[in-house]
Amino acid sequence: MADPRSLFDLTGKVACITGASSGLGRRAAIALSSAGARVVSVARRADPLQSLSAEIGANAAHVAADVADRANLGALSDAICEPFGSPDILIHAAGVNTRQPADEVTAEGWDQTLALNLSTPFFLSQALVPAMKDKGWGRIVNFASLQTTRAFPGGIAYGASKAGVGQLTRAMAEAWSPFGITANAIGPGFFPTELTQAVFDDAALTDRNAAQTCIGRNGHLEDMDGPLLFLCSQASAYVTGQVLMVDGGFTAK
Ligand SMILES: NC(=O)c1ccc[n+]([C@@H]2O[C@H](COP(=O)([O-])OP(=O)(O)OC[C@H]3O[C@@H](n4cnc5c(N)ncnc54)[C@H](OP(=O)(O)O)[C@@H]3O)[C@@H](O)[C@H]2O)c1
Repeated sequence: MADPRSLFDLTGKVACITGASSGLGRRAAIALSSAGARVVSVARRADPLQSLSAEIGANAAHVAADVADRANLGALSDAICEPFGSPDILIHAAGVNTRQPADEVTAEGWDQTLALNLSTPFFLSQALVPAMKDKGWGRIVNFASLQTTRAFPGGIAYGASKAGVGQLTRAMAEAWSPFGITANAIGPGFFPTELTQAVFDDAALTDRNAAQTCIGRNGHLEDMDGPLLFLCSQASAYVTGQVLMVDGGFTAK
C-alpha cells in the first residue's frame, strides 16, 4: 500500500484557480503550490496576480481576464492551458456578492451574480473537462456558501447563485465522475476577505457570527488548506457531488 501521506501530494498536477487575486482563491493557490502543483491563477487585476506568482516562484503563472465574459471563453481556456498544459484541477473561487436587498435588486446585479457565481463554473469546466477526460483524472472544486442552504439579509441573488452551485456540483459529478473527474464544493463560513469586509467591519455582527459556530470563532484563511488539499488530491478519489461545509459548525446548530 502506498504511504497514505502521498495521497495529498500534488506533484505533477496542474491547477487552475479563478479568483486568485484575493482571499480564498489566493490562499488556494499558495496551498496547492506548497503541495507540489503548478498553478495558473486567474482574476481581472493583473498586479495582485503578478505578486502572487512572484511569491510562489517558477511553478506559478497567471492570466488576467474576466472569467464571466462568455464570448472570451475559448481564448481564456487557451491562455490557461498555455503555461503548463491543461489543468488537472480546477478551483472556481471567483465570486461576487452585491448585497442588494430583495426589493432593490437590479437586473444588472442579478445577472452579474448569476453569471459569475453559477454560470462561469459550469462553462469554464465544460471547456476544460475534455482534457481531464483524456487523462482519466480531474478535480473540480466549486465554492458554495452558508447561503447554499440559508437565507441571509441582502443575499437573495447571491443565495440563489450559491444554492445553484450546490446542485451544479451534484450534476457535474453525475456527468463527469464516470471519467475519473470528481466535482465537489467547499462551503465556507465567515472568512475575512475583500468579499466579507462589510461583515467584518461590523464588530457586533462578527461576534454574532463567531458565536453561531460550534468552535466559537470565524474562519482563518489557513483553515481552508486541509479541506482544499483533500478535495484536490487522490485522497478524495471516492468523494464526489458533495458540499463540504468548512464553517466551524455554523450550520450544525
Ligand atoms: N469569504 C467568505 O467568508 C466566503 C463565504 C462563503 C463563500 N465564499 C465564496 O468563496 C469564494 C471566494 O471568495 P473570497 O471571500 O475569497 O472573495 P474575494 O476576496 O472578494 O475574492 C473574489 C475573487 O474573485 C475575483 N473576481 C471577481 N469577479 C471576477 C471576474 N469577473 N473575473 C475574474 N475574477 C473575478 C476577484 O478578483 P478581481 O477583482 O481581480 O477580478 C477576487 O480574486 C467566492 O465564491 C465566495 O462567494 C466566501
